[in-house]
Amino acid sequence: MKSLLSIGVIGFLLVSSCQKEELSSCGNLNKSLADKVEFYCGTVADLSQIVNNQPYGQIVNSQFNSVTAENSMKSAYLHPNQNTYYWTEADELADYCASHSKRLHGHTLIWHKQLPDWILNYQGSTADWEKLLKEHILEIVSHFKGKVASWDVVNEAFNEDGTLRNSIWKENLGASYIEKAFIYAREADPNAKLFYNDYSLAINPVKRSAVLNYLNHLRAKGTPIDGIGMQMHIFNGFPENIEISNTMDEIWKNDYLVHISELDISINPQSQQMLSAPDKELRRQAEKYLYIFKAYERIPARYQFGITIWGVSDNDSWIRYTYNRNDFPLLFDDNYLPKPAYCKLISNL
Ligand code: XIL
Repeated sequence: MKSLLSIGVIGFLLVSSCQKEELSSCGNLNKSLADKVEFYCGTVADLSQIVNNQPYGQIVNSQFNSVTAENSMKSAYLHPNQNTYYWTEADELADYCASHSKRLHGHTLIWHKQLPDWILNYQGSTADWEKLLKEHILEIVSHFKGKVASWDVVNEAFNEDGTLRNSIWKENLGASYIEKAFIYAREADPNAKLFYNDYSLAINPVKRSAVLNYLNHLRAKGTPIDGIGMQMHIFNGFPENIEISNTMDEIWKNDYLVHISELDISINPQSQQMLSAPDKELRRQAEKYLYIFKAYERIPARYQFGITIWGVSDNDSWIRYTYNRNDFPLLFDDNYLPKPAYCKLISNL
């Protein structure tokens, strides 16, 4: 009993001293996450925050070499009226990326959410809808040609049961909107890598096979699809780590680039009262981040498109305001200080 107790105490001391060591060796941000890995390591970012919020800007600039616009390249923002495009904010982000050597990933051309009212209310024949889809994609992709390296061409087109989501695009154009979207995107920028992006691919094998089968079927017809984005808004407890690595493997073995496109790891799935993040959960979260990075390192380099974290600090995370729960899913805390997850990555990659 006594010895068990002392083993427990020693264990605790080791864990906490290890954590302290990791925290002190990572606290000053003079290392860069992107430098620690051979693949692109990105974050979602918002230009006004980069400019106006000094610690946020410092983290984006020092830690990452790839950027995804969190909202400013979605249809509601870029294409607010049928004949009006609003480029300013996205252009400024593109300029920032060009002058700070960051790759820019475009998110997202065709989605059922964050659509402008004029598309939601649009009345027209199939031919009119087809023209709308074509012009929307050609205009946006041509505008960013040479500045945006890659696009989430279609986002979240599948339901959890593997059927196609009945989105406004599907209702008006049938399933063919997916292949058309890829064809137009390629036409507008032959050098951009084109992705299909979705959630639940690791946790739901039914959806995963439906997506893979469908994309394979399109590719067999010549549709230009380069890769698959696994969003990965996940939890400490699920999906299981092995499901995550198996999914990455399945994707590249089907000859698609793998983008971990929107990674965050929640610690409060049940929306409990949680004023601060429990240490135990922060340690589990750190292990899970590290597992994902290590598993990603093992896939063949030619299939590694990169890992993108969906947010800078916990304070910026979409999880809090979208699900109205306190959560701590990212690498930096509310004060923009490194969390155990960041330290774990910096010390072990
Ligand atoms: C989220 C943004 O983070 C929020 O700021 C916004 O209010 C809603 O959209 N899947 C996606 C992303 O593909 O575009 C979503 O981003 C998160 C879920």
